[in-house]
Amino acid sequence: MGKERILTGITTTGTPHLGNYVGAIRPAIAASKNTDVESFYFLADYHALIKCQDPEEIHRSTLEIAASWLALGLDTDHAVFYRQSDIPEITELTWLLSCMTAKGLMNRSHAYKAAVQQNEEAGEDADFAITMGLFSYPVLMAADILMFNARQIPVGRDQIQHVEMARDIAQRFNHHYGEYFVLPEAVIDDNVALLQGLDGRKMSKSYGNTIPIFLGEKQLKKHINKIKTNLLEPGEPKDPDSSAVFQIWQAFATREQTEAMRVDFTNGIAWGEAKKRLFELVNAELAPARERYEELLKAPQEVEAILRQGAIRARQSSQPLIEKLRSAVGISALA
Ligand code: TRP
Repeated sequence: MGKERILTGITTTGTPHLGNYVGAIRPAIAASKNTDVESFYFLADYHALIKCQDPEEIHRSTLEIAASWLALGLDTDHAVFYRQSDIPEITELTWLLSCMTAKGLMNRSHAYKAAVQQNEEAGEDADFAITMGLFSYPVLMAADILMFNARQIPVGRDQIQHVEMARDIAQRFNHHYGEYFVLPEAVIDDNVALLQGLDGRKMSKSYGNTIPIFLGEKQLKKHINKIKTNLLEPGEPKDPDSSAVFQIWQAFATREQTEAMRVDFTNGIAWGEAKKRLFELVNAELAPARERYEELLKAPQEVEAILRQGAIRARQSSQPLIEKLRSAVGISALA
């Protein structure tokens, strides 16, 4: 038996922000240092097409996300880092799995149901603007996972259902054709912070309230100054637990620094002072990677070479497995 595999995908839309950093990138890079496991991290560019049909954005975002992970210290000698679209076996497997996936299972997908509900509320046809891509999204995601027989799938809570569907699909395939797939499990890290954005709602590209990871210092300061606070004056006690400033502080600070800031809030630290310290803390953590990030953006061929290397490694697993699977379903040379 080989090592246990951890796998996760990153959809290539938008510019990575502090919420992505704290919630996904930082823990994934840390986990990839554990040599008892094999980590597979990939850019889910086919998934991106479901949400975004702007070719320039897809292309730009793929570079920005790859450069962010590399600049922040992903060790690609250890982790396998690749682009979904470089692995043709994944789309091939998507079809094999589609033929083992109950349509009724896909009907239950939260993402699809939410889109239908929105249409109904707007008085539209239930399927208005819903593509087959959105509907079959969980099958593509199942192929991503099952292609590499990964057991542990670190995801956000919104993705748990998709991992469970991958498991259902794997079970059905195994039951019908034989034991080809490891059954995957979603791994949810409760210690990972869900960051609030500038307006106090969850930091998310869809709310336009994000702080991108790699802003220049001036811009970073500006964004932090925009974080919504209340009108309490310096000297008036402030509630740390309802403050986005405190919450972001906590995601970057040591335990001691967090406790000290909690005391400062109770003692009425001025918002301006708290934000100034927050800027310094966040900047200190990100500044070393920022330079490397800028270099990589200017040298996309470097990023490209790393991803191609990753694809070669990934395909060492996917090519032999797809051969077995084709043969399992009855597709193989006649003589
Ligand atoms: N759907 C995931 C998201 O939006 C990204 C993703 C695609 C993924 N394929 C995956 C995550 C496979 C884990 C495993 O966050």
